[in-house]
Amino acid sequence: MNFNIIRAGRAVLHVTDIEKSRLFYEKLGFVVTDTDNENLFLRGLEEHNHHSLWLKQKQEPAVEVISYKVTSEKDIDELESFFRRQGREVKRIKAGEQPAVGQTIRVQDITGIPIEFYAEMEAVERLLQRYDLHTGAKVQRIDHFNCMVRDVETAYHYYLHKLDFACSEYTVGEHQKIWAAWLHRKPSVHDVAFMNGVGPRLHHIGFWLKDPMSLIDGCDVLAAAGYSTNIERGPGRHGLSNAFFLYVRDPDGHRIELYNGDYLTSDPDFKPIKWELDDPMRQTFWGHEAPDSWFDEASDVLDIQTGQKIALQQPKLKKSKPQFIM
Ligand SMILES: [Fe+2]
Repeated sequence: MNFNIIRAGRAVLHVTDIEKSRLFYEKLGFVVTDTDNENLFLRGLEEHNHHSLWLKQKQEPAVEVISYKVTSEKDIDELESFFRRQGREVKRIKAGEQPAVGQTIRVQDITGIPIEFYAEMEAVERLLQRYDLHTGAKVQRIDHFNCMVRDVETAYHYYLHKLDFACSEYTVGEHQKIWAAWLHRKPSVHDVAFMNGVGPRLHHIGFWLKDPMSLIDGCDVLAAAGYSTNIERGPGRHGLSNAFFLYVRDPDGHRIELYNGDYLTSDPDFKPIKWELDDPMRQTFWGHEAPDSWFDEASDVLDIQTGQKIALQQPKLKKSKPQFIM
């Protein structure tokens, strides 16, 4: 069934100090659409919607929800019926209950990740050619979510066969079981990726940059502003997806990827690319190793009904990280 899911749209994260977050994300190169003592709405330079990242001040860092944009309200209704038929609890949030966004539904996906669907978001000025306002890494737009989950193979089949995503690339581990999968609705490598690990947790949110030099500029600005310890991994190039990447941790440990250089996946006869987990060129094309924190640490996610943290489960596939052989 095609629910007309367009793309990854926004994430709602809990943070413990809005002012600290604002200073960090502004330096990184996001645009602040709006802020008060308890909320910070951020977007990229080419985005014409109000925000792609909503940070809420709370006692503890967590992921409230990750959201997908759909074509129309009809798609929201159809998704709600679909999830209810599957026996899932759906939370409907009426227009006006959340700033800048129309009505939405929220549900825990098959892996336990809290997801949301919306069709409408307030329009704002697109700053693509306001070069006088471009700073830091000059973040352009949200690109994807990466989720660490117990059972990637189940997520893979559910998103492909129930929600009509397509697979661009995947990694196999022990017994040729799917260890990670990159799934898309828009014609890029992914809107969401699932990786084998302790979960459900949100591993990172990827934001698109216009070129690799913007990524280097981001590193320089972060370091000069005293944020060098927030740079966790990179710059480098992923074998998988071909992305030029940098991973940074925000003041609460939420991981943001700056990302550039993937490719077109629109053709229906595009064949998903398979990687072996221990292929050293898979994770970093140039061969250098990722730090353990990148495999071990991720953001906790919340129950859409209770607001409590979802209990973590050990991954189905034993191997939690590749063997590094060079
Ligand atoms: Fe990513």
